[in-house]
Amino acid sequence: ARRVLIDTDPGVDDALAILLALGSQRVSLHGLTIALGNGKDIRDLGSNAKLLLRLSNAAPVPVSLGDDSLATSCEGATVSRKGMEKQLVHGEDNLGNVGAKYGKCDEDYRDFHPLKAPEFIYDVCRRFPGEVSVVCIGPLNNLAEALQQHPDLPELVREVLIMGGAFGLRRGNRTPAAEANFYHAPEAAQAVLTAKFKRVVVAGLDVTHQTEMRELRAACVAAAPGSVISQFIWDVCETYMNVYHDWGETVAPAHDVVPIMYLLRPELFEAEEVRVEVETAPAALTRGMSIADWKGQWGKEPNCLVVTQIRDVAAFTAAFVAAMARLPL
Ligand code: BDR
Ligand code: CA
Repeated sequence: ARRVLIDTDPGVDDALAILLALGSQRVSLHGLTIALGNGKDIRDLGSNAKLLLRLSNAAPVPVSLGDDSLATSCEGATVSRKGMEKQLVHGEDNLGNVGAKYGKCDEDYRDFHPLKAPEFIYDVCRRFPGEVSVVCIGPLNNLAEALQQHPDLPELVREVLIMGGAFGLRRGNRTPAAEANFYHAPEAAQAVLTAKFKRVVVAGLDVTHQTEMRELRAACVAAAPGSVISQFIWDVCETYMNVYHDWGETVAPAHDVVPIMYLLRPELFEAEEVRVEVETAPAALTRGMSIADWKGQWGKEPNCLVVTQIRDVAAFTAAFVAAMARLPL
């Protein structure tokens, strides 16, 4: 099985992505590191990670918190659209307001790993040089900080997989120009993309919008009606799906599932090598925007593989359901 670290701001779609990793036989999960993004309270987000581990009956997986003093423009995932009130996309608890129903409690706030996320990431990668896949499904502060402290990190990591940015006509969700994970920490995204990791895979909004949360949850429930995991998946998605519906979007995307699925089943996707950089100018309208040089006009080497298409959506759904069916409850 592949050694994997997931850096996350859990998060409804993060929850689905983490459960996918936990249900896969191809993943040996070495830790969850927590970033600010969907929520503003790092311990609360950490407790969501713990709840998911408990729900899936996983062997102990360390949860390490990011430094909440790291600069971030994060206000939690409150987004306004078309003159509507700001909406909390992931609910008050970042688990679609169903955390308490599944036993989220104060105890979850204890027992985090003694190392802060950047040091924890470095420590795991140093113990298994060249073997660890780091999957980032939140703002990239933790990995960027690890890089800054340890410039040898890129040699130690097998690959980095990221949910972030946008590369086609669909430009942004947090602002008209920028996707949320890149918008919250553009300097960190730019640092990671230009750091010379051996392999970087990036799934942006155009490919994540080819997923459909409604489909995934219906398929899970149909496959295992009455199981705790399918009921949880059903419940956790509801608020998030309603917000997307209110916005007039035709699908509620399961963004963060894409990089994990790419790790497990790359043959289900199309991807293209390209140079990507992120706008970091503080006051720019385009702050946090990802720019892909598809025509090679900058004359720079490609630095990542951008995932452009899901080739087989039915196989994607089936692989997700199969992983959920492997979770014990
Ligand atoms: C990203 O932002 C977060 O709200 C989601 O969890 C995902 O990681 C999508 O832009
Ligand atoms: Ca996320």
